[in-house]
Amino acid sequence: MPTSLVILAAGQGTRMQSDLPKVLHKIAGAPLLHHAMQAGAVLEPECTVIVAGYGADQVEAAAHEIDPEALVVVQQERLGTGHAVAQARDALQGFSGDVIVLYGDTPFVRPETLQAMSEARATFDIVILGFEPADPARYGRLVMDGDLLDRIVEFKDATPAERAIPLCNSGVVCADADTLFALIESVGNDNASGEYYLTDIVEIARARNMTATAVTCDAAETLGVNSRADLAAAEAAFQARARALALDEGVTLIAPETVHFSLDTVIGRDATIEPFVVFGPEVTIETGAVIRAFSHLEGCHVSAGAIVGPYARLRPGAELAEDVHIGNFVEIKNARIAEGAKVNHLSYIGDATIGAGTNIGAGTITCNYDGVFKHHTEIGARAFIGSNTMLVAPVTVGDEALTASGSVITGDVPAGALAVARGRQSNKPGLARKLMDRLRALKDSKREGTS
Ligand code: UD1
Ligand code: CA
Repeated sequence: MPTSLVILAAGQGTRMQSDLPKVLHKIAGAPLLHHAMQAGAVLEPECTVIVAGYGADQVEAAAHEIDPEALVVVQQERLGTGHAVAQARDALQGFSGDVIVLYGDTPFVRPETLQAMSEARATFDIVILGFEPADPARYGRLVMDGDLLDRIVEFKDATPAERAIPLCNSGVVCADADTLFALIESVGNDNASGEYYLTDIVEIARARNMTATAVTCDAAETLGVNSRADLAAAEAAFQARARALALDEGVTLIAPETVHFSLDTVIGRDATIEPFVVFGPEVTIETGAVIRAFSHLEGCHVSAGAIVGPYARLRPGAELAEDVHIGNFVEIKNARIAEGAKVNHLSYIGDATIGAGTNIGAGTITCNYDGVFKHHTEIGARAFIGSNTMLVAPVTVGDEALTASGSVITGDVPAGALAVARGRQSNKPGLARKLMDRLRALKDSKREGTS
């Protein structure tokens, strides 16, 4: 059955105390909205419609980062969840199939759960996602009659007997598009909140001899974010799951609780991650690589057998080939480091290509930025860059070339050449002692003068 997604994301999220729309707050380096979109992606949606309100332009930009075809419609006034879904009707004109309604602030619904809902649609006209929270609090309650869902009653409108029902409404709905929009047309706002409740479609459908049911999921999946405290709790929940998954997949985490993952982190089996490592967005680590303690990685690829850190920083565009070594206090940005090359101590390598087996000495810096433009440094294979070499880009160092330590390299170095670009040393015999004797005598004469 072709499926489209409608993701409700109009709320500002007042309790976030933020200028940023709630759905753009991040968990695991990705906006809440991306989490919801990614969960829905399993259904290969024909159309994704995001109902935005507060900060709609920002919400649209974020949606397009991962799905340039996502449609964003604006709900001018927030008149309730039913009214919000109705805003997607025009965008879905001409689509026939199922619609799944998701929430931009509910990041953890599992793809498997959405699949189960989609499958239940073969038997029922409307499928609602229910859950049993430890504390049902103010959630809407699902009034069941065997397998059939009779209606959903909002907490504010519920009788004491209905409030005692443990099965709650997550808000996620699956129904045929035409059916859904026809039912929403009949939803009124004569209730305790004066809102157009999406949940009313169940009772209306039953009155029209249609059927509804509930698929249930773990309460952890329906966790919504309404405050910074919720956001922190959701981050912790995400990280706990990501660590457990990495361990399951054969990654060694020496102190799992100290490793921080992003939504899209990929780590191959038999990789070892030491304590206190942060994976920002877009990191892939191949099998057998070792990421040593206190390293920070984002937008980079680390190949098999490479060793990174301790205390290394890999920034976007860092591409390490097999068996590369990146050591302590080394920063790599937008640079390809070929097989077996080493940058072991205190270096900045940016906008560069480094050939296989090349050794970059301690303190080497690619001077890539002239204040306006960025320039490229090219170093060949099996070269030896002496300690504290400044490579003033654009510059090329050939295969098997050598730079003397302390050199400021401003011109290309041919393959096999030795480049020396520093002041020549001169020794003045005895001058050090003479100078020190003079200074000590000066200090003694001053002391006598004050006593
Ligand atoms: C809703 C459900 C309730 C369920 C609960 C789960 C209804 C009437 N009630 O209640 O049964 O237990 O979610 O969390 O649906 N939104 C819009 N535009 C609007 C109104 C809401 O985009 O006009 C978005 C909000 O930003 C939010 C989501 O829809 O992400 C839910 O809205 P909210 O007002 O929080 O619904 P609840 O009262 O929590
Ligand atoms: Ca809510």
